[in-house]
Amino acid sequence: MTYQADTAFRVDFEPIGRRAEVVPGETLLAAAQAAGVGLVAICGGAGVCGDCRVRLVQGELSSATGAERELLSSQEREKGFRLACQAVPLSDVKLDIPPESLSAPQRLQVEGQEVEMEPDPWAVPVDIEMDPPSLHDLRPDYARLQDAVEECGLPRPSAGLSRLIDLSEQLRTQGWNVRLALRGGEIVAVLPRGTTLFGLAVDIGTTKLATYLVELAQGKVVAKAGAMNPQIAYGEDVVSRIAYTNQQRDGRKILQEKVVSSLNDMVVDLCAEGGIAQDQIVEAVVVGNTAMHHLFAGLPVQQLGMAPYVPAVSEALDVRADEVGLVLASGGYVHLPPNIAGYVGADHVAMLLASGLAEAQTTTLALDIGTNTEISLAVGGRLLSCSCASGPAFEGAHIHDGMRAAPGAIERVHIVGQDVHLHTIADELPVGICGSGILDAVAEMREAGILDRRGAIQDGRPQVRSRDGKPEFILAPAATTGHGRDVVVNRKDVNEVQLAKAAIRAGIEILLAEAGISAESLERVIIAGAFGTYLDVSSAIRVGMLPQLPIERFRQVGNAAGAGARQMLISGKRRLAASQLIRRIEYIELTIHPGFTAEFLEAMYL
Ligand code: FES
Repeated sequence: MTYQADTAFRVDFEPIGRRAEVVPGETLLAAAQAAGVGLVAICGGAGVCGDCRVRLVQGELSSATGAERELLSSQEREKGFRLACQAVPLSDVKLDIPPESLSAPQRLQVEGQEVEMEPDPWAVPVDIEMDPPSLHDLRPDYARLQDAVEECGLPRPSAGLSRLIDLSEQLRTQGWNVRLALRGGEIVAVLPRGTTLFGLAVDIGTTKLATYLVELAQGKVVAKAGAMNPQIAYGEDVVSRIAYTNQQRDGRKILQEKVVSSLNDMVVDLCAEGGIAQDQIVEAVVVGNTAMHHLFAGLPVQQLGMAPYVPAVSEALDVRADEVGLVLASGGYVHLPPNIAGYVGADHVAMLLASGLAEAQTTTLALDIGTNTEISLAVGGRLLSCSCASGPAFEGAHIHDGMRAAPGAIERVHIVGQDVHLHTIADELPVGICGSGILDAVAEMREAGILDRRGAIQDGRPQVRSRDGKPEFILAPAATTGHGRDVVVNRKDVNEVQLAKAAIRAGIEILLAEAGISAESLERVIIAGAFGTYLDVSSAIRVGMLPQLPIERFRQVGNAAGAGARQMLISGKRRLAASQLIRRIEYIELTIHPGFTAEFLEAMYL
């Protein structure tokens, strides 16, 4: 079928009831993005992740591409399933979006350790009362305020232009009786007297964003929120996002605006929940891996994508919130803690602070597991760190029936005899399998003899069948699932888990070797990060991702990076501790480490 070049087609997204118009040639994914439909598209539309599945209910689409023939079974294609990033409307169309293709709602890790410490925030409140100007006192408003601050025994403050633009009106509206937020001698906010000052702690993960609204004087979290990192639509991992900025003019600007805009939306929601005004937020601390840090700050990332992978900046930065587009108090600042290396960022620094690794007296290993896994080892006063590319398998990506941790995702698997017992998030009918589920599945399949040591699926079980000549294990048969399709684990899925766990285990072994100790010497193992919170430690040990140690030595701490960001938000001393910490770290670059390949290959076995 041909179409008129000037025709616009309507795309209806059901059951969420959104509608978009597309010009001919635009994909369903572009339509979804235009309609604000949170379709999972973790390969950024490259046709490799298979996550952007939709079902055609009505209308006509372009013929299936090679990627669709590869990623969708013939039964799925017969039922009308398509990949949104591949299919182009040839008429008005109506689509059904299965729950596993929607990026929300899903479990977003914002919980973590509580922060208990004496707050000594960078921005402090100072109440000032002044006489208004008169014919006998013609001092300008700014000088009048500076004089009043000096009269309180404080140094004469400064103020940026954006503060001065509002100053005259604010002083008059408040009757010359105001509360200032002073940050290192600079006025960052002028508020009604008695107003409470707040700060914002942010953890920008490659996949997820976590934000915390914190009362600065008490260090109390009054609201928190998680969301998907919207940059996911431009690439699932750091490497593909760096590639996007290389290929796309303005790519860096687009990614910067996307993440800042999401954070601004979250700030609005947090303020509504906390019952405060946005201009009460006078300070933010933002942590993320080095690429997320650079993309947030608008710094170049090209050099992070090529050897020797150096950051543009590793020192701590203090930038004006309006310079990066974050909407806080008009003079508010964003503190960006230091990065360690190109692939070990401020989020790991924050995690090390929060987990007390810097001060650890015991031999402690700390891991922050994600698409990139950062690992640190504290031993005998030394602090060694490395980073490994563990890939997105534990986010449910690159897995045939993988999905993010959303309702209906299989998160626990237990195989007893011939029976497979599953537990899904929110106890809904299974529609896919998330990271902790696939790890469990591999561990249980290995234990039940369904997988051999190399990860090959063994025949001879009722749940093992052949598809296109390749064996796969039916975890949940179609009759028991929420979408009427089997949920399976195939050889490629097992291989993805092997690659991810081998990278992590090789990183651990290299750090132990560099420190000259064995795994048995580890007194504590701290596991942070969203996936790390939900993984079953015994499954991770059984597949060989973690060393064989007594289970009580492991501690799962939730979003420790978020907790570290909160520490640095409420405490100047913790910011200094972060700067001292990175000077102590011995960073090991795994890609050039002579022992890495051998450790990695050894760790591939189950
Ligand atoms: S296959 Fe469509 S976004 Fe990945």
